[in-house]
Amino acid sequence: MLSFRKAIAGWYKRRFNVTLDPTNEVLTLIGSKEGIGHIHLAFVDPGDIVLVPSPGYPVYPVGTGFSGGVSHIMPLTKANGFLPDLNAIPKEVAKKAKLMWLNSPNNPTSVIMTKDYFKRAIEFAQDNQIIICHDAAYSEIYYDGKRPASFMEVEGAKDVGVEFHSLSKTYNMTGWALGKVKSQLDSGVFEAVQEAGITALGLDESVTDGIRTIYQERRDTLIPGLKQLGLEVDAPPAAFYIWVTVPKGYTSASFTAHLLEKAGIVTTPGNGFGAPGEGYIRMTVCTTKERLAEAVERIKKIGF
Ligand SMILES: Cc1ncc(COP(=O)(O)O)c(C=O)c1O
Repeated sequence: MLSFRKAIAGWYKRRFNVTLDPTNEVLTLIGSKEGIGHIHLAFVDPGDIVLVPSPGYPVYPVGTGFSGGVSHIMPLTKANGFLPDLNAIPKEVAKKAKLMWLNSPNNPTSVIMTKDYFKRAIEFAQDNQIIICHDAAYSEIYYDGKRPASFMEVEGAKDVGVEFHSLSKTYNMTGWALGKVKSQLDSGVFEAVQEAGITALGLDESVTDGIRTIYQERRDTLIPGLKQLGLEVDAPPAAFYIWVTVPKGYTSASFTAHLLEKAGIVTTPGNGFGAPGEGYIRMTVCTTKERLAEAVERIKKIGF
């Protein structure tokens, strides 16, 4: 439906000042997840390398595997600011890689990438002939009024990359190849959903401002509470996620189990997002601030 793609392009223009041609630079997806999974079928042949951040969204390595590709892990560690260290990728791996996944704001660390980081990634992609797939699913959930950038805002991005957006389910440039794959797998997004999307994308910013205010209040309830308990945690700049260092004497799994069994609190062990996530748990702000305050009280009661 061209009118939905036009609404997406209009939103990109207003939000990021990025010009997209709705006829051939935007593709609507059933959800960004299926596009993220399917894009490997368009570009990755058996044995090809895909650069995958870890901890990270599991669909990147799983989609790679479905195409017979091999994931090369880019560890996200506190020492590198939870950003992939492009200099640490061996030259022979970079030369062989077909595709690189980036995700800002990040799931599970909530870290955001600057335009300068995107610029370096674009240079890396140009030098090594790699397609960058940027997952921007959380770009509209940000705090303190500091808006995350779109990968597409940076010069050269369109030549090397594709951006996946969740609300607008956007993606760019190499779209036709993914479009070909998708035309054999589904018959497009249900029109009523596209109509709803057109309305959502045309709404005033005050709607998303209201949503962000709710998340910010939740974040600002949970973070000080966790800090008061003595847990090591940074306030995230974006996304729903709180990446907490597990206290001494625990692993990701044993701390998750402790919180679940003793306090009835569900968290996700960091190593579930990849081995470099060991030593962390992921909490979310997807419940009310009252429940989050209660969670802090419950952790206080059981100790750790
Ligand atoms: C990093 C990331 N990307 C993409 C998605 C998929 O979003 P959707 O398929 O709802 O657009 C998710 C959902 O959890 C996610 O965490």
